[in-house]
Amino acid sequence: MTKKQEELAALLQSGCVIPVLTIERLADAVPLARALVAGGVRVLEVTLRTLVALPAAKAIIADVPEAVVGIGTILNADDLARAEDIDARFGISPGATPELLKAAAASSLPFAPGIATASELMQAMAHGFHLTKFFPAEQSGGIKALRGLAGPFPDARFCPTGGIGEANAAAWLAEPNVVAVGGSWLCPAADIRSGNWADITAMCERAMKSLKPA
Ligand code: 3PG
Repeated sequence: MTKKQEELAALLQSGCVIPVLTIERLADAVPLARALVAGGVRVLEVTLRTLVALPAAKAIIADVPEAVVGIGTILNADDLARAEDIDARFGISPGATPELLKAAAASSLPFAPGIATASELMQAMAHGFHLTKFFPAEQSGGIKALRGLAGPFPDARFCPTGGIGEANAAAWLAEPNVVAVGGSWLCPAADIRSGNWADITAMCERAMKSLKPA
């Protein structure tokens, strides 16, 4: 793995569970991040799926220094540049295009492209990305598919995301080539909408207690 990818692997591993955040209202960003951090969840992926995503990530970076903020749903080189501009700590994509892989390889931002097949993984590895997001993890064959990839690609490491929740996160994390799991289950849209920060913190505490090695 490249140094940049080693760094990202260590960062994601330290998080263990990476919440995938979709923030609709800017005012929710900081209280949401504080609720996650209070529950022991520090490594956060703010997805570029809403108009306020970048200002939301900026606000968290400025006001919640304990949080390690990455940008998700990076779809192209412009998104990657936007993540770099706000000093995000890492970038994650659900997939990869030749354009994005080239830009990410040239960038200093630690980055994980998304893959779901052997050929996609080979393309990512050809650009230096041995750590990828396996997406959508459950829908693409689940743990059996990941084990299938481990044979020909023993050096590959993964952050599986998609369909992962409280019930199956431990099984994914037990796989030797999994550094962390991602998912939206720790920050349900309804809880964010109603400002139910206490429940989000409680859910994070529960997840960390059962999933993160002491
Ligand atoms: C992602 O972008 O990583 C997924 O939307 C998260 O998948 P989940 O909602 O099934 O956790």
